[in-house]
Amino acid sequence: MHSEHEDVSRILFSEQQIAQRVKEMGAQIASDHPDQSMLVISVLRGAAIFMADLVRAIDLPVEMDYMAVSSYGSGTKTSGVVQILKDTTASVEGRHVLIAEDILDSGLTLQYLISSLQARNPASIEVAALLVKHAKRQADIDCNYIGFACPDEFIVGYGLDYAERYRNLPYIGVLRPEIYA
Ligand code: PRP
Repeated sequence: MHSEHEDVSRILFSEQQIAQRVKEMGAQIASDHPDQSMLVISVLRGAAIFMADLVRAIDLPVEMDYMAVSSYGSGTKTSGVVQILKDTTASVEGRHVLIAEDILDSGLTLQYLISSLQARNPASIEVAALLVKHAKRQADIDCNYIGFACPDEFIVGYGLDYAERYRNLPYIGVLRPEIYA
């Protein structure tokens, strides 16, 4: 049986490094919001794994919610026009919202989400991104909590996919170019 681990050329962030960093992020978020409850929203599907670990590291009353989005038109993420396929179940009004994202790349997804959520009058909106890439940034996003700066490589694992695979790898690694060439 082919193992998906064989398709990874090197590990960028190990399972232990991720666990440690996510715990630190959660502790920081909790200490920055004493006596608050938070509505943590993640964007399906990649961020679900990060969010599941992050909320367990935040020692505050936390509500979890999910959105699903897709880019309009050609399907390229660079259009910046995003369609909401699934909206939050909870009302955002008056809530302290934390968006949990697995990766911030061009920033266009988050730019759209923040403006969409802002229009619903939350008490506050903050962003926690596990990975931040800078190479292709098109939108200026103020990230409150960052896990790791990420090199501009084709990465998979810990929620990140290629053709819907590799999300369940416990680490974040670089995909061998022959897999997607
Ligand atoms: C990824 C990631 C972010 C977005 C970031 O999602 O989860 O939502 O891309 O890219 P951007 O900063 O260039 O907008 P993707 O569209 O791959 O969907 P997925 O979560 O289902 O993998």
